[in-house]
Amino acid sequence: MTTALITGASAGLGEGFARALAADGSDLILTARRADRLEALAAELRGKHGTASHIIAADLTEPAAPARLIADIAAAGLTVDTLINNAGYGLRGPVAALDPDAQLGVIDINCRALVALARAVLPGMIARKGGGILNVASTAAFQPGPWMAVYYASKAFVLSFSEALHEEVREHGIHVAALCPGPTNTEFAGRAGMTDMPLFTKLASGPEAVVRDGLAALKANQAVKISGAMNAVMAESIRFTPRALARRIAGSLQKARKG
Ligand SMILES: NC(=O)c1ccc[n+]([C@@H]2O[C@H](COP(=O)([O-])OP(=O)(O)OC[C@H]3O[C@@H](n4cnc5c(N)ncnc54)[C@H](OP(=O)(O)O)[C@@H]3O)[C@@H](O)[C@H]2O)c1
Repeated sequence: MTTALITGASAGLGEGFARALAADGSDLILTARRADRLEALAAELRGKHGTASHIIAADLTEPAAPARLIADIAAAGLTVDTLINNAGYGLRGPVAALDPDAQLGVIDINCRALVALARAVLPGMIARKGGGILNVASTAAFQPGPWMAVYYASKAFVLSFSEALHEEVREHGIHVAALCPGPTNTEFAGRAGMTDMPLFTKLASGPEAVVRDGLAALKANQAVKISGAMNAVMAESIRFTPRALARRIAGSLQKARKG
């Protein structure tokens, strides 16, 4: 029996990872701020699969939260075999106008907490000669994103960090993968202020395929998985696009609103 720690398990992709891993026989440690949602999910998965789920509510924008979460996990006598670093949010708008603390919170959860949790579970994984870390990045990682600058930069960090870590821990039998979804129907767009964007109104896909792609990449130790054929073509083509053009296209997509 293995145990998976899933951050951001109260909605969207994180909830999907919980469902898929429970169906596969894992026990779960579920975290997010909305404990009521986690409790309901845990009860459902216990009924369906006999899954043991441990709920630890945390606000991962707080600098001390990852260490507290890890301490609570240790105190409960649990071992993290798989870490799904999924919790995150984005904000759409000009850097000069968006709330500064909310923008810094994007870095705290998308980058700081993700690194802190990976760092905390790695020594145990190295000692056990195995384990897996799936970091949820985004197709936003592949170019700068004017009008969503901090979010795009945070995901570029996640992608770079994940690829580097993948190389560092390969020799220990530890799998590290960065999952790069494109627009996906979850609560993300609502929180980010993106529901009126053609990217979401026309192109968003369901979370199930993204979850499947992420877990398959982790199993195969594929360093980077871009979910969706069209997303892969677009992300890969950026390598052959002049940087000025790539950032202008990204900016115009961020500015575009449903007509
Ligand atoms: N949906 C997309 O289009 C898309 C595309 C590319 C990448 N992604 C990435 O996919 C990941 C999952 O997002 P999603 O699409 O599933 O969005 P979602 O439906 O909004 O879910 C986000 C999850 O993160 C948790 N979270 C948010 N703020 C938190 C905080 N301060 N502390 C602890 N947990 C927090 C939320 O739980 P609580 O609110 O209960 O705390 C929720 O469980 C994110 O990293 C996102 O950047 C999403």
